[in-house]
Amino acid sequence: MAYPVKMIVIGAGSRGEGYTHYAAQHPDLAQIVAVADPLDFQRNVVGDAHNIPEERRFRTWEDVAKLPKFADAVLICTQDNLHEAPAIAFAKLGYNILLEKPMAPSAESCRRIVAAVKEAGVLFAVCHVLRYTAYTQKVKQLIQSGAIGEIVSIQHLEPVGYWHQAHSFVRGNWRNEAESSFMLLAKSCHDVDWLRYVMDCSCKRVHSFGSLNFFRKEKQPKGASDRCWDCPSCIEKDCPYSAFKIYLRDRLDKGHSQWPVDVLTDKVTRETVLEAIKNGPYGRCAFACDNDVVDNQVINFEFEGNRTCSMTMTAFDQHTGRRTRIFGTRGSIDTDSEIIHLYNFETNTMTDIDTNIKNDGGILSGHGGGDEGLIASFTKAVAENNKDYILSGPDDTLESHLIVFAAERSRRAGTIEEIK
Ligand SMILES: NC(=O)c1ccc[n+]([C@@H]2O[C@H](COP(=O)([O-])OP(=O)(O)OC[C@H]3O[C@@H](n4cnc5c(N)ncnc54)[C@H](O)[C@@H]3O)[C@@H](O)[C@H]2O)c1
Repeated sequence: MAYPVKMIVIGAGSRGEGYTHYAAQHPDLAQIVAVADPLDFQRNVVGDAHNIPEERRFRTWEDVAKLPKFADAVLICTQDNLHEAPAIAFAKLGYNILLEKPMAPSAESCRRIVAAVKEAGVLFAVCHVLRYTAYTQKVKQLIQSGAIGEIVSIQHLEPVGYWHQAHSFVRGNWRNEAESSFMLLAKSCHDVDWLRYVMDCSCKRVHSFGSLNFFRKEKQPKGASDRCWDCPSCIEKDCPYSAFKIYLRDRLDKGHSQWPVDVLTDKVTRETVLEAIKNGPYGRCAFACDNDVVDNQVINFEFEGNRTCSMTMTAFDQHTGRRTRIFGTRGSIDTDSEIIHLYNFETNTMTDIDTNIKNDGGILSGHGGGDEGLIASFTKAVAENNKDYILSGPDDTLESHLIVFAAERSRRAGTIEEIK
């Protein structure tokens, strides 16, 4: 194969459209040759931006899969419960596949996807974008160089953020398990995958606690109404979860019209956002939604070699970078996903390493540059037919997903779960 890699976008929503910016910025490396999405607006945003002819703008992934293979790769960016069927169908057709995370909402489904891509012999990458950041690669390099000796334990915090939780996991697409997947899989499969990657050995056992503690009807402030539009608490500006605060005061009024504001409406203006707050799902009171996913969860892991790890996922922080402390036999790392503070026990010295993550607001700078790192690596892997550029392939991803499923079983049953 050669550059530019010809790609088809399956699901041109937030993520699918986002990846296409890579092709727009690097037409010599990647080209979007077709798009499938039932929503006219989403389909045509990508179609128009990439001069895709009408006959290559499809309503569903099935329409694409009916045709013989006509591109090098598909980017499958549909919702969580719509990953398995297209992944298996496109593998059978011989397409190389970039699949959004989570692979699928059940372990059986994930196994079927992995079996299909292996049988077809296609390249396969799951969008575990954190593996592709300069920051993660620096951490890996430090560990591999022996800078902290052997890892004994890790402490990891995933601060989802109070407004991000309200947006995505209370009002939004991932609020309800039956409609998408459970919180640990939907949000923190990234973190579990990252911890497995950094530990670089298998996880043997996990146990977990967690609940939907706060975003429940009985926690609704007295006198609040079920929509922000006519809620005294929102109008008085004393609710941190108010849709007016999250979408208007904290963002649009300050000139920020991208995610998450653009999830509310196709064309962002003050009027359309107000209309969405008045009538749409994102204007519902954060205590009066049909959400059931947890807002806090802790997990303890036991890895091979008696290494341990604890992880906390919580809504109740500011949506800043993940924070991690890695404790080794000769030193330690304390990091906020950007600056790495490296301590050396022998010399008693601290070195601060700035991994230089600059969020320029560009769509691909998301996840500390991991979004761009991922699509760039996948493109290279396909063009050069070399799976070594893929850091999140089928086996690694299946292994970390199985840890996630085991942790969730533990949370529900109160058990310690062995990973098989
Ligand atoms: N890698 C990450 O860090 C990350 C971050 C956020 C979301 N995600 C994952 O990415 C995926 C997509 O999320 P999103 O926020 O872009 O969702 P989205 O709802 O914005 O986009 C999904 C798109 O799929 C389209 N679609 C539905 N049925 C289809 C069909 N039959 N054929 C083709 N398209 C169809 C929808 O119309 C929609 O436009 C989800 O699995 C989500 O969990 C990953």
